[in-house]
Amino acid sequence: MAKPCIIVFGNEKGGTGKSTICMHIAMYFLREGAAVGTIDVDARQGTLTRYVSNRLIFIKEKQTSLAVPKHFSVHKSGRENLKSAEQEEQENFVSALQQLEGYDFILIDTPGNDVFLSRLAHSYADTIITPLNDSFVDLDMLVRADGNNLSPSLYSEMVWEQRKVRMAREKRSIDWIVMRNRLTNLYSHNRGKVEEVLSALAKRIGFRLATGFNERVIFRELFVSGLTLLDFEAINRELTISHVAAKQELRDLIGMINAK
Ligand SMILES: Nc1ncnc2c1ncn2[C@@H]1O[C@H](COP(=O)(O)OP(=O)(O)OP(=O)(O)O)[C@@H](O)[C@H]1O
Ligand SMILES: [Mg+2]
Repeated sequence: MAKPCIIVFGNEKGGTGKSTICMHIAMYFLREGAAVGTIDVDARQGTLTRYVSNRLIFIKEKQTSLAVPKHFSVHKSGRENLKSAEQEEQENFVSALQQLEGYDFILIDTPGNDVFLSRLAHSYADTIITPLNDSFVDLDMLVRADGNNLSPSLYSEMVWEQRKVRMAREKRSIDWIVMRNRLTNLYSHNRGKVEEVLSALAKRIGFRLATGFNERVIFRELFVSGLTLLDFEAINRELTISHVAAKQELRDLIGMINAK
């Protein structure tokens, strides 16, 4: 049986759009007829878990039928001993993966900080998608600027480590896609600079750069009802020009995923 394609949404910086984009990509593949599982290893915050449960509430209240991914949330262990806590988290994570055996896609949402469960999830990724806000502060998670010298920083080093872990465990590599999110025209000079730095770094750090998503109010509105832009047709809601453009940005990103 073909293994599921595992996509991990990660960035050690909070609030960059990981959960929102994870839910949108899950819905895209579900609408394509694929079997999709989602795992929230950011269970403490639980954004993805709440996104899915808001969707279930919407479906019940509106008596409508919308696809829902098979969802798991993996919690941080309460055990005091570090080794034993990590062991429990690993068992629970692997158990969720095993329950999704036979699925086409497993999408994993991770927290915006460096914790064991996040590292573990990254080490199982076929593809990592890293959204970042279009600023030099966000860029700092990927690359450290020391005078004219640029070197990989915290998150890039973590991805590098997990690439080695995966190679040792499964003899498989990890594809890494970095995308800018919430792009605006307000700071177009800054935008050009960030793009320049990212393009220059892509090869060296080992990621592919996606075009990214513009800032769109709609994304903030959808969470409460558990909906995505891909559900509008099914619920007879009209798409504006901005929504259509956002869907195209999503398709462009999905087009970059090397699904088996
Ligand atoms: N392209 C966008 N345009 C406008 N708002 C957006 C966009 N993408 C995400 N958002 C909004 O930004 C906020 C943060 O998004 P989200 O929760 O997906 O980020 P996150 O990276 O998962 O955060 P955390 O690290 O806290 O888990 C949410 O309110 C979301 O609706
Ligand atoms: Mg999140």
